[in-house]
Amino acid sequence: MRKVAECLKNMPISGIREIMDLAAERQETFHLELGEPGFPTPAHIQEAAFQAIRDGYTKYTPNAGLPSLRQAIQRKLAAENGIEAGLEQIAVTPGAIFASASALMTVAEAGDEILIPDPFWPDYHMLTVILGLKAVFYKLRAENDFQPDLAELDRLISPRTRALVINSPSNPTGSVFPREMIESLLELAVRHDIYLISDEVYERIILEGEHHSPAALDPDGRVIAIYAASKTYAMTGWRLGWYLAPRQIAPEMNKLLEPFVASASSVSQKAAEAALSGPQDCVREMVAAYVRRRDMALSLLEAGGVRFNRPRGAFYLIADISPTGLGSYAFARQLLQATGVAVAPGLTFGPGSDHLIRLSFCAEDEELREGVNRFCRFYQGLVKRIAA
Ligand SMILES: Cc1ncc(COP(=O)(O)O)c(C=O)c1O
Repeated sequence: MRKVAECLKNMPISGIREIMDLAAERQETFHLELGEPGFPTPAHIQEAAFQAIRDGYTKYTPNAGLPSLRQAIQRKLAAENGIEAGLEQIAVTPGAIFASASALMTVAEAGDEILIPDPFWPDYHMLTVILGLKAVFYKLRAENDFQPDLAELDRLISPRTRALVINSPSNPTGSVFPREMIESLLELAVRHDIYLISDEVYERIILEGEHHSPAALDPDGRVIAIYAASKTYAMTGWRLGWYLAPRQIAPEMNKLLEPFVASASSVSQKAAEAALSGPQDCVREMVAAYVRRRDMALSLLEAGGVRFNRPRGAFYLIADISPTGLGSYAFARQLLQATGVAVAPGLTFGPGSDHLIRLSFCAEDEELREGVNRFCRFYQGLVKRIAA
């Protein structure tokens, strides 16, 4: 085979996709591995997309997105996040994924270091490998409610560190950083003069407590904030996200749009505009369903003797499988084979997470109930075998 780029050979693949592929080969599967809402995109958003096509929104848009969508984002940032942003700071991307990639490409060059949480959303790790950046992992420990250890973070910063990536509410832990933590992380970024990249795609999926956007407290233009319609409005397939960049760097960051994507889909942009400007009851209803499903899953796990964290945001929970003696991939594969339940192996979220399993509670109530019950029985069987 002729040469392909070394960085691609080294890029880790997602363990979630691996389990999804194995699950696709089976007849009956309980999907607790997926990271997307099972709800359909709300009807008024779908209708806006049909109308957009009829109105001729079928062409390229400006690189940074349609002005009307950027204005809707600007209004939403002011009303919900407490951020007074200029339009020139806002750009629309095909999903939050490209906003994350753009942020990293803007602030760092090959050899630079980026602080990434462990456990992390796997794409951040993949991006650092592709871009030749060095991922430096800071631990989020279950016993600390998956909050960062500030002293440890401080020690991990070197002269090559360019940015700290944070993700609250978090995939995969479901933790939400309180305001004091956000303030401390900003203070740390200022002290070391590094960027803060804040992935807030789950900002509206708050199960208890409150979401705080670091960009609202940004003292001097160092926060890049990343958002999406994907999770909030059950629009993962529409591929629509956006970023808010400091005034000083937005023009440079926006240059990436032309060679990589030109623009996000025009139809999806009109749909996102309807999502942001229209009624928000659909979001409240979906979040209420996630709260109910979380509570059901937690009480089943508790009754089953499984240790877990209590997620306060997003739609994921972490279960601790250490008592089974299995690593997370072996556990996930055997669980799927024996019971038909698909879950995400912890190791795909970071080197320190092999004793963890991520369960999504975006599945329908019945699928979730049966999936968690089977998970508990399988777990108990393994623990008994070890004790015998
Ligand atoms: C933390 C986090 N950021 C970004 C994304 C990607 O979002 P999008 O589908 O809008 O690209 C995901 C998707 O799972 C995620 O979990």
